[in-house]
Amino acid sequence: MTVNLFDPELMADPFTAFNRLREQGPVVEAAFPGVPGPIWLVTRYDDVKTVLGDRRFVNNSAHVPGMDVGNIREKLIEARGIPADYAQYVLDSVLDADGDDHIRLRRLVSRAFTVRRVSELRPRVEEITERLLDGLPDEVDLIEHFAYPLPITVICELVGIPEEERPLWRDWGRALVSMTPGAMAEPLRRMVASIQDLIERRREEPGGDLLSGLIRAHDEDGDRLTDTEMVTMVLTLVLAGHETTAHLIGNGTAALLTHPDQLDLLRADPGLMPVAVHELMRWCGPVHGTRVRYAAEDVELGGQTVRRGEAVMAMLVSANYDPRRFDDPDRLDVTRESDGRREVHVGFGYGLHYCLGAALARQEGEVAIGALLRRFPRLALAVPAEKLEREFMPASWRLARLPVLLNP
Ligand code: HEM
Repeated sequence: MTVNLFDPELMADPFTAFNRLREQGPVVEAAFPGVPGPIWLVTRYDDVKTVLGDRRFVNNSAHVPGMDVGNIREKLIEARGIPADYAQYVLDSVLDADGDDHIRLRRLVSRAFTVRRVSELRPRVEEITERLLDGLPDEVDLIEHFAYPLPITVICELVGIPEEERPLWRDWGRALVSMTPGAMAEPLRRMVASIQDLIERRREEPGGDLLSGLIRAHDEDGDRLTDTEMVTMVLTLVLAGHETTAHLIGNGTAALLTHPDQLDLLRADPGLMPVAVHELMRWCGPVHGTRVRYAAEDVELGGQTVRRGEAVMAMLVSANYDPRRFDDPDRLDVTRESDGRREVHVGFGYGLHYCLGAALARQEGEVAIGALLRRFPRLALAVPAEKLEREFMPASWRLARLPVLLNP
């Protein structure tokens, strides 16, 4: 049977679906509407790590030797009405690069996201968090008024997006990740124009932000970064920096509010927070599948052969619930990883393309959920748990809204 990742039933409960699919086989066949050829979904923890950590898989279909392999993302983007001259801005990111190009692009920005640099940002993340919480009414949708504004503010400050433009980025991001046919071209055009304009302004008046650093690298040595790559990097960082973290905060808060025993453990010992965030990333992380990879040669996965040129997607949700790796995986246990520094789950991916912003996202999750619990000891859902609405997107896990009462 071919799996359809856009199937509403699967999107409503991917956990049950993948518990079944994982036992059906190490790789299962899937299809994307409008994309020719199968995509193999990789279901088990060890195989997911192999796909993400092994150079026999590449992210760019052009790097499969001796074969003209169609690029699946290119087809998906085309099908959604993005003109070719704009497609490059979403198709040429660090995530689509392999080998030396990948190393070059990642090195240009990686210093801003090291554990040390991120920990220096902590006081600022705390300040933004407290200010946002100060302004909330008693009954509020935490997704709209807290979970999104926090990471948008943090990543925009870091990259150098002016304050008045941040609400636009929220709307553009929403339109782009929705993948709605016809609704993506215009926001993308405006986003690119806004970055190009900002680059000109920062070139005149450089600051201490990441964009000013990219401009310096570009102007000193054009081989290090092309014009398009600079725009794409800004776009990637701002979108990846908030569209995911918002849902770690949303999903994580909802998980705790619906598991009072785990909430009590965390309230009794706030020092557990880093360990709890690892578990929340495993149990309800917002990204359920990676970018597609292509086999650069025949590779055996769990006894099955993926042929050269075939596409695979690592199903992180399936790996994170694999009983071969996690005892009683369906159970949320905020004490599961007693050593908080060790990350066993694969919610941030693994290997060469491991999430660049993982330390920042974890920190924002810790600060945001920690502050909510500390400031609102009676925090509760404003609707019954089964009424929480999800936003259905393939390979993602998100709440559309999180209505809560801060002081019931
Ligand atoms: C909870 C929040 C986040 C989650 C769940 C998440 C998840 C992921 C995953 C699964 C990947 C690997 C994708 C693949 O291998 O195909 C990835 C890569 C990436 N993430 Fe995140 N991410 C989060 C937050 C962030 C933040 C805050 C940033 C801001 C800088 C960021 C920037 C990136 C970048 C640039 C890559 C590509 C790295 C590369 O290709 O070398 N992410 N993320």
